[in-house]
Amino acid sequence: MGPRSMGIALALVAAMAAEARADAIDRRIDALMARMSFDDKIGQVTLASIAEVFEYDKVTSGAYGNVMNFGTAPEYAKVLAAWRKSRLKIPLLHGTDIIYGNRTLFVPPLGQAASFDLALNRAAAEQAGRESAATGINWTYAPMVDLNRDPRWGRVVEGAGEDVHLAACLAGARVQGFRAGGLIVSAKHFVAYGFGEGGRDYDAVEMGEPFLRDHVLPPFRAAIAAGAETVMSAFNAFNGVPATANRHLLQDILRRDMKFRGPVTSDWGAIDQLANHGLSPKPLDLTVATFNAGVDLDMASYLFLANMKTAIDKGLVSRARLDEAVRRVLRLKFEAKLDEKMHVDPAEALAVQAKIAPHGRDVAIEMGRRATLLLHNPESRLPLGSEKRIALVGGLADSPRDHMGPHPGLSQMGDIVTLRAALAARAEKAGATLDYLPACGACRFATETDDAVIAETAKTAAEADVILAVVGETYEESGEAAARADLALSAPQVKLVHALAATGKPVVLLLTGGRPMLVENVIDRVDAIAMVWFPGTYGAIGTAEVLFGDVSPSARLPMTWPRSTGQLPLSYDRLPTGRPASADDKWTNKYIDVGWTPRWPFGHGLGYGTTSFSAPRLDRTTAGAADTVTVTVTVTNSGTRAMRETVQVYVHDQIASRSRPSRQLKGFAQVDLAPGEAREVRVPIRVATLGFHFDDGTYVVEPGKFRVFVGRDAEADAAVDLEVTKGSRVPPWEAPIPCVDGKTPPRAAKH
Ligand code: BGC
Repeated sequence: MGPRSMGIALALVAAMAAEARADAIDRRIDALMARMSFDDKIGQVTLASIAEVFEYDKVTSGAYGNVMNFGTAPEYAKVLAAWRKSRLKIPLLHGTDIIYGNRTLFVPPLGQAASFDLALNRAAAEQAGRESAATGINWTYAPMVDLNRDPRWGRVVEGAGEDVHLAACLAGARVQGFRAGGLIVSAKHFVAYGFGEGGRDYDAVEMGEPFLRDHVLPPFRAAIAAGAETVMSAFNAFNGVPATANRHLLQDILRRDMKFRGPVTSDWGAIDQLANHGLSPKPLDLTVATFNAGVDLDMASYLFLANMKTAIDKGLVSRARLDEAVRRVLRLKFEAKLDEKMHVDPAEALAVQAKIAPHGRDVAIEMGRRATLLLHNPESRLPLGSEKRIALVGGLADSPRDHMGPHPGLSQMGDIVTLRAALAARAEKAGATLDYLPACGACRFATETDDAVIAETAKTAAEADVILAVVGETYEESGEAAARADLALSAPQVKLVHALAATGKPVVLLLTGGRPMLVENVIDRVDAIAMVWFPGTYGAIGTAEVLFGDVSPSARLPMTWPRSTGQLPLSYDRLPTGRPASADDKWTNKYIDVGWTPRWPFGHGLGYGTTSFSAPRLDRTTAGAADTVTVTVTVTNSGTRAMRETVQVYVHDQIASRSRPSRQLKGFAQVDLAPGEAREVRVPIRVATLGFHFDDGTYVVEPGKFRVFVGRDAEADAAVDLEVTKGSRVPPWEAPIPCVDGKTPPRAAKH
């Protein structure tokens, strides 16, 4: 047998084994269903949350077939004690928002996205999974794969930014990581939650379906292809119908077109809240509408529990539909082997966490290095080097809670290495002293600025050789329900930065937070700007290494950085207009006050030094939709430090039967270069991914001319032409998924 036949034989054996396993699970479900009472079944579609008065006896009776948010091992042990007394002992789903860590917190997802480092994102998710699984959590409500173009929305911090290709890559990496860490994952929120009007949380979304399919669905498809077992429906209304009760989204798109087989959970209390959407004031109606639309699990509304029996008795919901949902939940539990995980030992949980903590620390520090985003450094003021005295200004530098960001998990305040601590340690190594000056603390929404404190701070800071000013968002100003109408730095923060700049000493601005913020009124006064996000438990150590030049920064913007809040929503891959923006022509697509360009484009990020790119080459200049074209470019590090460059490839379909974005990221590759080193970088582009959807969901790649841009951000201008000679036309389920290999998506796991 040759290697090829051997491969085929092995694949056949694996497929047969999977089939046999699936059959065994089916038989097990059949046997169990025969023993389940009607109430047991309703319990399986109920997801009950920890509460001040939690009814443990409902776990015993089976009314609560799934639970959430019992984060610590002792808390969950109480649930399990109740469960052990249950008649059928059907394993519980135990979910929690494990978003960017649990005991060890990493930089939040948007910062992780800035690393453009898929393996590192995967590693962080895996660590988060392992730490959580140790305490009995078996399901994470992550990753959030909602694309977005409007950083007024606070939840941009939880996502991957604005670009569909990057978001799909990260969705896959994160899902794989969480699963490897031992968790079931829930891709959320289905769908288009990131496009709420005005960036307001929970707001309605109006969106055409081609856009939905081109931009919003692929990260979900990538998550499912990577093994996401569950999907969470969104709070928002979509084209006039709340997503939680949207049959078209949940049936036609998620099940028929995306072939998703697992259970769909509602979001928190969302079924109840349908009354506020105006669906009906009656809980029975809300139950029927949601369940029949395709939501299988009721998260914390308890309406399925209260109304399902009546709904079935009245013939409003069929028994078959209930059985279908229960089967989905049971299949998930058995496939994930939850029955082997129904125990938790608080001492053992601590021991496991302690054992894996050093690895988590390493990953978190590396994430700090790779997420620290150098945005502005015109005179190469960074890295720090010969300074003997450094002033670190601003209370956010020394606030552990703010380092944790909006989702602290079970991290401990005492574990947090703050920017202050990390910078002080690194400064000491460099033989420098670090003076910490809290100034006005977070200096956020003070109505009256304490001018005296700011003046005093500036006076002291003036004695230093360089000033590091830490301003930006607190943890409460980012995340869910933290939409902002204005992304400007607060008035006291601006005042502080101006006072520091007035000392004449170099000022480095370190921005904390979960989204782009406006820097227009400070950028000309400072010497450098770096985004440090919420550093998490140990990220600040990596940031300190970057600031001191141990590592050249390599992060890139996963979102366009605006000049003004009024420019939002803003993304690099907008559709063109008939009147492209022009400075010389008033009657063009722009604002008369802030222009049309962003402060920094998607993909922007600086290192210490410069790299140069050769002219890009294609391995073929004509190709068909089934081909892969390889883009090659030689990148040279012309600086004196080791650098990591991210080669970004954008493609524009020049003439098409629908308007196409002026460019779209279709691939990227990172390369590490020693000083003076030159390397050839190859980025494969699947021609099949250069297409788009029509209104009916058909996906086409149209023959014609495409421009391929290669460079270090979305404004790259080096280009080469590609001619697509043979197109393709496929139904939505055969459309290729960005960043997922193979001509058609891998079959989703059977749940
Ligand atoms: C959020 C979800 C989250 C859920 C449970 C909701 O408010 O929208 O993303 O998973 O709460 O905490």
